Amino acid sequence: MEKGYDFGMVGLGVMGSNLLLNMADHGYAVVGYDKNAEKTKTLESSAEKGTVVKGVNTLPEMISLLSRPRKIMMLVPAGNPVDSVISDLIPLAEAGDIIIDGGNSHYTDTLRRINELKDKGLHFMGMGVSGGEQGARLGPSIMPGGNKEAYAAAKPVLTSIAAKVNGEACVAWMGNDAAGHYVKMVHNGIEYAIMQLISECYDLLHNGLGQDNETLSAIFASWNAGKMKSFLLEITADVLAKKDNVGSHLVDRILDKAGAKGTGKWTSEAALELGAPIPAIDMAVMTRNISALKSERVQANELYKMPLKKMGGDKEKYIQQLHDALHFATIISYAQGLSMLSKASAALDMNTSIPDVIKVWRGGCIIRSSLLNDFAKAYEKNTGLENLLLDGNISDQLKENYGSVSSIVSDAALNGYPASGLSAALNYFNAYKRETLPTNLIQAQRDFFGSHTYERNDRPGIFHTDWQHDDKTVDHASGGPGTEPGNSKNHL
Ligand code: 6PG
Repeated sequence: MEKGYDFGMVGLGVMGSNLLLNMADHGYAVVGYDKNAEKTKTLESSAEKGTVVKGVNTLPEMISLLSRPRKIMMLVPAGNPVDSVISDLIPLAEAGDIIIDGGNSHYTDTLRRINELKDKGLHFMGMGVSGGEQGARLGPSIMPGGNKEAYAAAKPVLTSIAAKVNGEACVAWMGNDAAGHYVKMVHNGIEYAIMQLISECYDLLHNGLGQDNETLSAIFASWNAGKMKSFLLEITADVLAKKDNVGSHLVDRILDKAGAKGTGKWTSEAALELGAPIPAIDMAVMTRNISALKSERVQANELYKMPLKKMGGDKEKYIQQLHDALHFATIISYAQGLSMLSKASAALDMNTSIPDVIKVWRGGCIIRSSLLNDFAKAYEKNTGLENLLLDGNISDQLKENYGSVSSIVSDAALNGYPASGLSAALNYFNAYKRETLPTNLIQAQRDFFGSHTYERNDRPGIFHTDWQHDDKTVDHASGGPGTEPGNSKNHL
């Protein structure tokens, strides 16, 4: 090859290899590095005829083969392996080269790496890639962020390999610094929430309504044929229909302990940091944690002996209500994730465009869904939308399904089912849509025991009351006559 290879990949697991093969299919000459000679051989033998795919077993060889500025992506486990690849690359790379981390790294690690490499003249790009192994091969959703010049250099290849929706590639610049990994983290938080919601529907249909797996598969397939068409509903229908090699349904043989690599927890942690309310996502993270307590749950089941009740009544009506409840709570999950992203973009100066995030999530990724078309319209109407719940069309959908979600959540509680995601979504909505909340009482309590001050709803200022001495009660309006705002501040 005279002109040099277009793209290099460090780490030839299935994701790394599939992304490279995808690039090669689109006419790029690619080189993959892995210490393991078996992996490089497999990469070369998996390449389509006529494509240019080379496997190498040393980094210097890969570096010598790439055209400048070099574009090198790594797909290695998050954490130390990323730092170790970076330190191996630093002495070999040259100013202007672009190192892309396509794994699920924590955004604060990405920020640190960007700054470390900036000093050496290297561009480090944190990039979310979603869609699993198949997505990587056939068209993932790609969430790059950071230096715009580096993005411009990588854009042609990323655009060619990304999933396409109506001819538009599911890739866009997600914002400054570590925005690519931040957006991917929130994508995963929403993924956790929707998976939790679907599992609650499965529970209520299976244990509550007594539907067998074949029927359940058909129900989810029919839901997937409607307004909520999505990758997660599609695979749920397939999962429920899958038989193992002795002919029983595989789902019934799978231990009910959910694993988690951490991105859901990171989303919750980051939201707490920001003060962004995302209870449907938090609840999904927590419910996975509860699921992990298998042996404690077995003991508690024995102790409480409260068997689940069967749901009675009109089955068809119940299934429809459940469908509507899922529709409601799914919208809420996206709304929480997207509003968190808006807040994060402002707080971290990322300049993330929510319409671009939605565009990128429409295809290729795990949370792709036809609902995203409605969300795109909402942000088209109002690019500064603070929350999807404030859009007219979305509010119509929520109002339409409100009765169903309320009824499902209350039925679940009455019959002993933990519909925690549905309930978190409903309660978020019930709180969000209220002009007044009972938080006036909390403010009064805080001021009572800690002189934390409060604001009033009838006049401006910061106030403190001496709650225990009726006759001596003094309201301090900050800046007002005879007030000493400094005093109350000292108690904060
Ligand atoms: C994706 C997925 C992918 C991965 C998750 C699973 O977008 O392709 O989100 O990143 O499957 O990391 O996460 P948990 O192991 O935490 O469920």
